[in-house]
Amino acid sequence: DSANITALKALVRTVPDFPKPGILFYDITTLLKDRTGFAMLIDELAAHYLERKIDLVLGIEARGFIFGPALAYRLNAGFVPVRKPRKLPAPVARVTYDLEYGSDTLEIHRDAIQPGQRVLLVDDLLATGGTMEATIKLVEELGGRIAGLAFAVELDFLRGRERFPNHDVFSLLHYDE
Ligand code: PRP
Ligand code: MG
Repeated sequence: DSANITALKALVRTVPDFPKPGILFYDITTLLKDRTGFAMLIDELAAHYLERKIDLVLGIEARGFIFGPALAYRLNAGFVPVRKPRKLPAPVARVTYDLEYGSDTLEIHRDAIQPGQRVLLVDDLLATGGTMEATIKLVEELGGRIAGLAFAVELDFLRGRERFPNHDVFSLLHYDE
């Protein structure tokens, strides 16, 4: 509820000029180390999906690994890691996507999702949405059904959610600047 959201936001530290001048960084490590705050964050995210049948929660390396497994446990679902290149040992599907400077690649095990399974995609942050858009391509390639996109933090002013008009996008903490 909104009292919980206010409490959670109070635990987020803002760091000006990180990682470069002019950028205000929302640092959730101060929330994560708070036992009440971390539990509240996971429970509030999970509440959005408790009535849906989630088979798998998929987390995006690295910071998606902070939330994905806890959410999977809470939702009685399995957990699937989407990893940076050359980390996964078995056959993979791979996607490369553009960044502000250069490009990045993500991989998933080809047998991680069975066609038709209901998959919840989780990351710490929705900024431009490029990372999640690439991850959606991986899940679609494997035939997974996307049950939702979940984030701890969303930077509303970057309008990343506009990339996902056909998906349920749910973020707990919204920031306007
Ligand atoms: C960060 C963040 C999200 C992504 C959000 O990951 O954890 O995954 O950027 O940005 P976007 O919406 O513009 O794609 P990053 O790749 O910087 O590093 P990480 O390994 O620490 O998660
Ligand atoms: Mg990331």
